[in-house]
Amino acid sequence: MAAAVGPIVLVHSEGDGGEPWIEALKAEMPGIDARVPAAIDDRSRVDIAITWQLPHGQYATYPNLALIQSICAGVDHVLEDHERPVHVPIARVVDPFMGRAMTHHIVLQILRWHRQLDRFEGNRPERIWPPSFAFDADALQVAVLGLGHLGTHLARALQALGIAVAGWSRSPKSVDGIEVSHGADGLDGLLRRSNVVVCLLPLTTETEGILSAETFAKMPPGGLIVNVGRGGHLVESDLLSALDTGQVSAAALDVFQAEPLPADHPFWDDRRIYLTPHIASEVNKATAARVFADNIARLRLGEPPTGLVDLNRGY
Ligand code: NAP
Ligand code: GLV
Repeated sequence: MAAAVGPIVLVHSEGDGGEPWIEALKAEMPGIDARVPAAIDDRSRVDIAITWQLPHGQYATYPNLALIQSICAGVDHVLEDHERPVHVPIARVVDPFMGRAMTHHIVLQILRWHRQLDRFEGNRPERIWPPSFAFDADALQVAVLGLGHLGTHLARALQALGIAVAGWSRSPKSVDGIEVSHGADGLDGLLRRSNVVVCLLPLTTETEGILSAETFAKMPPGGLIVNVGRGGHLVESDLLSALDTGQVSAAALDVFQAEPLPADHPFWDDRRIYLTPHIASEVNKATAARVFADNIARLRLGEPPTGLVDLNRGY
């Protein structure tokens, strides 16, 4: 008797290949037939692709693809593939774990800057004990660009810490007494009073390059830029110029135009830049696998998956 054949889930993750994701998925769905691309003999059996940076042109080689499930929250890595079959829906990860992790990272970076931790670290070799001075807890005014799943979590946490925060989104919305503006006009006023600007936007044609000289010039001098969205949001040369003039005093960067950050990139040696290697909110395999399993089950039952991307908006 011929072995039963069913649909296959393709799993690819640039970096670790995909095997650890298959293991996590199998913990949720023991019977699932999930494979890395090299183990797929019949591409017509693949109905779902769970991916992070599948090489461009590959989606088009699976004729019965019915869902592209991004391994992460951002889907720019899928949308950049212009050969991708455009009728196939794309889902992203919306996982409360990531909201907590991202908030922890950003709060750490904002307070590291505000409480001048690097200055005190720098004092240690000379055993310097500076005169006491009080930090002004009311001096922070944080603008969160992108008030979606992650930005809303952050804004609520900052509010709970007593830190002044306001948000910016594409469409009008209200969030728990937090001031939210939208559109280009709304951004201007927000920037003018914010000494910390956090980018938690998706990378789209509208948001690319948003952290530019023009944006920095609208902020009060000496502020902090936090970019945890995508490297394409930041005009890196504009940031270096703004750091040199003092318009911006520091930047916490987790994402870069080129990743891994090239060894000869000036950011590596610049102490005004708090540099992390795209780990602000790394996807948690165990909790994300639950999202993937749920979406596989939904798709195969003919139900809509969660986290669907609006292809017209690009996120
Ligand atoms: P999300 O829920 O889709 O939220 C996106 C937010 O951006 C929404 O508030 C949206 O406005 C706003 N937005 C989009 N385009 C805009 C525009 N042109 N003008 C103003 N606001 C705009 O996304 P998320 O889950 O919070 O994730 C955000 C991004 O974080 C991801 O796309 C990814 O790039 C990045 N990320 C980075 C890491 C890391 O480790 N560094 C981890 C996870 C995610 P509306 O509310 O009006 O739709
Ligand atoms: C990570 O960068 C993500 O988009 O989840």
